[in-house]
This record gives sequence, C-alpha cells and structure tokens, in this order.
Amino acid sequence: MLTLTINGQSRDVDVPEDMPLLWVLRDHLNLVGTKYGCGIAQCGVCTVHVAGKPVRSCQLTVGDVGTRAVVTIEGIGGTPTGAKVQQAWIEAAVPQCGYCQAGQIMSATALLNDNPQPDDADIDAAMAGNLCRCGTYIRIRRAIKNAAAKSA
Ligand code: FES
Ligand code: FES
Repeated sequence: MLTLTINGQSRDVDVPEDMPLLWVLRDHLNLVGTKYGCGIAQCGVCTVHVAGKPVRSCQLTVGDVGTRAVVTIEGIGGTPTGAKVQQAWIEAAVPQCGYCQAGQIMSATALLNDNPQPDDADIDAAMAGNLCRCGTYIRIRRAIKNAAAKSA
C-alpha cells in the first residue's frame, strides 16, 4: 500500500510501485482529467505537477513519487496561478477538441509560477513538449500572456 498526496489530500493506493503515476491517477483514483497520449514522454497530455514541477506522469513510477505533493488538472484551479490560467483559457476560448488542454494548462501554470512575466521565447521553451493536434498554439500563447498581465 502506498500513500500519495494528491491535490492536498492523502490517498492510499494498492498498486505495484513500478506502475506509472498516470495509470494510478486514471484507473485507481478516477482522476481522468489527466490524459494518455503517447506513453513515451513525447506529447505532454499526461502532465501533472510533482513538488511544483511539471512532470510527464506516463514516465514517472508511483513508487518514485514518494512523499512529494502531486497536483492534477482537477486541483490546479485551487492554486492562485492555476485559477488565473484557467480563467485566461476561458476568456481566450483556447480549446478546440480539448484533449491536450489539461497538459497545456499544467505546463502553463508551472511556467508562470516559475517566471511570472515570460517572453515569447520563454513560452516556446516551456510549452514545446505539449503538442496540440488542433493547432491552438496561438491562443495558448495569448492566454499565457493575458494571465501574466493579470499578475503584473
Ligand atoms: S502520454 Fe505522457 S507524454 Fe504523452
Ligand atoms: S485542442 Fe485538440 S489536441 Fe489540442
């Protein structure tokens, strides 16, 4: 039995330690906002925060999470930056099909936590690992800038 801290709550899970965190979130904790895409760290749809840093949950085993706090898309709106990012996403009507968007929001929130006033190069660098098959990149960049402007 492992005890994880997810979105501020302690959760016990009876899973093998080598199970990817993504599987635990989706199949054992019913936190299905975090998506499965490639399974090989290439698309970013599975991004969550571990100890405040964006992590590909398809690549991190649950045993390696340890006592570090995990935040998923279900919890990010409870943080000041996450709430700002989600509001900016709504105002810019960013999503198209939506599949990549949880990962995009998690990466954007991590960026703004780290660098509240990113320039275009900072945004490109932070978001490069999050693919969007619908091509919403221009709206993503606009929403990140709008969220940053609200912090200025
Ligand atoms: S599913 Fe994890 S990066 Fe694609
Ligand atoms: S909104 Fe469809 S993949 Fe990004």
